[in-house]
Amino acid sequence: MNEQSSPVLEISSLSAGYGRFDVVRDIGLSVGKGEAVALLGPNGAGKTTVLRAIMGLVKQRRGLVRIGATNVSDLPTHRIARGLAAIAPEGRRLFLDQSVEDNLLLGALHLRRDQARVERLLTSVYDLFPVLRNYRHRLSSFLSGGEQQMVAIGRMLMSDPEIMLLDEPSVALSPVAVDIVVKAMLELRKRGASLLLVEQRIDVATRVCDRLYVMTHGEIVEEMTPDTVRAGGMSILSKYLG
Ligand SMILES: Nc1ncnc2c1ncn2[C@@H]1O[C@H](COP(=O)(O)OP(=O)(O)OP(=O)(O)O)[C@@H](O)[C@H]1O
Ligand SMILES: [Mg+2]
Repeated sequence: MNEQSSPVLEISSLSAGYGRFDVVRDIGLSVGKGEAVALLGPNGAGKTTVLRAIMGLVKQRRGLVRIGATNVSDLPTHRIARGLAAIAPEGRRLFLDQSVEDNLLLGALHLRRDQARVERLLTSVYDLFPVLRNYRHRLSSFLSGGEQQMVAIGRMLMSDPEIMLLDEPSVALSPVAVDIVVKAMLELRKRGASLLLVEQRIDVATRVCDRLYVMTHGEIVEEMTPDTVRAGGMSILSKYLG
């Protein structure tokens, strides 16, 4: 992270959960402007809950979440989704009975009065994933898993957010599709995007990210870099990830 600039996402003392128990406990993390940070951890660690808490989708949350200069801790999701944060969620959550382009446009609902900007964003998504340009009028249900993941990432880009949250974008994809998704994330970094990437695949996280946090049982237990992973940290990571 560039120490001079303040982080684009800053979380401190965040606790969040669903019922009587917090599944995320007192965590802190930050993502700098233009930085890519991974959140690694086994099934059930609380990774998705962190992303949902950032988006305001988890009711039970305490602590501070700041995006840019805005404290979003008490903001409703529809305000946060208006250009502060956007998510490519677990399971992609596309409207399968709608076209690729209609799914993409859903990400830019708050920008609909600025059609020129929406057009520019659409072009940038189609430049990132050219196959989607060819399929733009096709029903999303006809796409492969990899192509559906591209739409989910594209919809996230359409809101032009300060921080992009990706929840296991590589899961259940073929090696070729994983490679396309990784290259897209690297291209987003070139464009200056700030990313928080939830992953279970260490290779994907180390290819894309500057720093990695490891989460188990709702707590952040390690912070590493791709270099420290390569210099022996892999055994520590494997221990946590199983
Ligand atoms: N809507 C919900 N209601 C109640 N409990 C939930 C809900 N969603 C998740 N949990 C529980 O919270 C814990 C953390 O779940 P979370 O989905 O954040 O984990 P995760 O790290 O994303 O796991 P995975 O890698 O399997 O996606 C789990 O024990 C899960 O059962
Ligand atoms: Mg999850």
